[in-house]
Amino acid sequence: MRIVSPRLSALMDPYAHHVLVCVGGFCSPNREGRMLYAELARLLQREGLLFGPRRVKRGETPCLGVCIGGPIVVVYPEGIWYSGVTPALLERIVVEHLRDGRVVEDAVFHRLRKDAD
Ligand code: FES
Repeated sequence: MRIVSPRLSALMDPYAHHVLVCVGGFCSPNREGRMLYAELARLLQREGLLFGPRRVKRGETPCLGVCIGGPIVVVYPEGIWYSGVTPALLERIVVEHLRDGRVVEDAVFHRLRKDAD
């Protein structure tokens, strides 16, 4: 059974994207994931993606079940998984994918849905 509070719905504007950054120590043993998570906030602010209809919600997670080749970053609702994310690649993800709507194809290693683009 799905319970939706009309009061909460009225308070909540939609997000265009949700980005999950793995901050776990197996896929980024030198804490690169944590650094990326902090950098993501700065990039979203720079690109005007914190508020309004294109706003992006970011979240950190302790593990995404991959555990190698990180840091791993996932973008929903497309279900696009990026691996080996460096600060330069994170900037491309924010600008090309989140701002301009073009998946960074050369960095994708998994798609949740085959029709995602
Ligand atoms: S620790 Fe990052 S995917 Fe498991």
